[in-house]
Amino acid sequence: MRRVLRMSYLVAGLGGIGFFGMSMLLLGVWPGRTLEEQIRRTQPAYPLPPTASEQRGRRIYSREGCAYCHTQQIRYVGSDFKRFGKATLAWETIFDFPHLWGTRRIGPDLSREAGIRSSDWQLSHLYAPQALVADSVMPAFPWLFDGAPNRPRQEARDLLDYLDTLGRNRALAGPEADVHARDAMDCSADERRYAFGKGELNASPAMARRSGEFPLLPRVKTQPAGQDVYARNCAGCHGARGEGNGKGADGLSPKPTNFTEQEYSQTRLSQALWHGVAGSAMPAWRDVSRPDLAAVAQVVRSFSATQAEPQIPPPVLELGASVYKARCAQCHGATGGGDGTAAGQFPIAPTNFRTQRPSLAASLRTVRNGIEGSPMAPWTNELREDEINAVAYYVRTFYTGDVR
Ligand code: HEC
Ligand code: HEC
Ligand code: HEC
Repeated sequence: MRRVLRMSYLVAGLGGIGFFGMSMLLLGVWPGRTLEEQIRRTQPAYPLPPTASEQRGRRIYSREGCAYCHTQQIRYVGSDFKRFGKATLAWETIFDFPHLWGTRRIGPDLSREAGIRSSDWQLSHLYAPQALVADSVMPAFPWLFDGAPNRPRQEARDLLDYLDTLGRNRALAGPEADVHARDAMDCSADERRYAFGKGELNASPAMARRSGEFPLLPRVKTQPAGQDVYARNCAGCHGARGEGNGKGADGLSPKPTNFTEQEYSQTRLSQALWHGVAGSAMPAWRDVSRPDLAAVAQVVRSFSATQAEPQIPPPVLELGASVYKARCAQCHGATGGGDGTAAGQFPIAPTNFRTQRPSLAASLRTVRNGIEGSPMAPWTNELREDEINAVAYYVRTFYTGDVR
């Protein structure tokens, strides 16, 4: 009897050690090996390691606790795919050690953040999130700055550099690497679609695009809903009265448009709201419902203080036309459509004067001073004062409004 009892201690002891060993293997070693194996099979030939400043940025991201609110993994589910794009592959975070995947989403996933927002947006947002996104719960990080959003310290620059790496390796690897990974992975048809499917238009709704399809918003009467959408989403930059002087405007370049001195066709408003303004902090608003977009377009329109158009003497227009042809048409297009031969070379699209008409004062000011942060240069060194005046008048004659 005592022998049997003594044996049972041994059996239990060995069993315990056995289970411990087995769980180490099953839960620790085996998944790690499978993952390594999958990364080896699917990774592209030349993933780009982070630079020194990007690594410093990563440490700041970790130190400031960004990962408590932001994930860096797009899950294999439809809603993630729709909002953030292609699901994260295992190899995408090979330089991430220890990883910053996060477990909780209070803010959006950041694994594709590179290129979604302009740098001036990112810095202003870090400095004071609520200035740009009225009801944001993201804390401000002013200690990364010298008292203003356009005076970032090295730490803010490093953090920005790091944000610019998020999603970079997947983008760099290109479609060939995706095909390679798809063939090497054994996963369900759904997972395959989420990992490699063609991104939907709504993926990264804030990402500005320069061209592409957009819905023509219907013209509606001014509605309280529109005021509401404006106050929540637009006033931070464009100001409560549309004067381009919202709380968030200070750190941005180019500055948010002053709507009181612009007229827009419905086409231009629809396009600007759907695509944003690429090369500026103006985000796209594809995640706002279309009735709300139509309503907010009407709010923008209502700020414009249009006056009776002055009669321009024909010789002035002639001078304007000749200056325009020589100096402006290569960008703004022969008939003012924003489609000149050089237009494609610049980060911000030249204004299409057929669908947008600045007030005379705004036009004159822009031709004299240019627009800071945009390819529109000042002309005071190049043109005589009469030429400047004439061409500032002339560009306003292209406007056709909604007649197309
Ligand atoms: C308390 C939670 C919280 C913390 C901590 C936090 N964020 Fe956020 N973040 C949010 C929320 C909520 C949003 C969405 C609203 C907004 O854009 O402000 C957001 C939005 C963002 C966006 C915009 C994403 C996009 O393109 O729409 C970026 C970039 C970002 N955060 C970066 C950071 C960084 C970097 C840190 C750390 C320095 C950080 N966040 C810390 C909650 C947080
Ligand atoms: C983060 C700041 C920011 C927010 C928020 C913002 N805008 Fe803008 N917006 C800008 C900037 C900057 C420009 C100027 C771009 C340029 O110089 O071409 C701009 C330009 C525009 C234009 C002019 C486009 C053109 O043809 O030049 C319209 C219209 C506009 N915004 C509407 C809106 C509306 C409506 C909202 C709210 C739904 C909004 N914006 C929210 C920053 C913002
Ligand atoms: C290098 C290309 C380029 C040339 C040349 C150029 N522009 Fe521009 N212009 C732009 C761009 C880009 C914008 C839009 C800037 C923005 O949206 O922030 C612009 C904007 C403008 C605006 C501002 C409209 C508004 O939003 O208020 C006016 C007016 C204008 N240009 C007039 C002219 C005139 C007149 C000439 C010739 C003397 C000229 N431009 C030459 C690129 C150019």
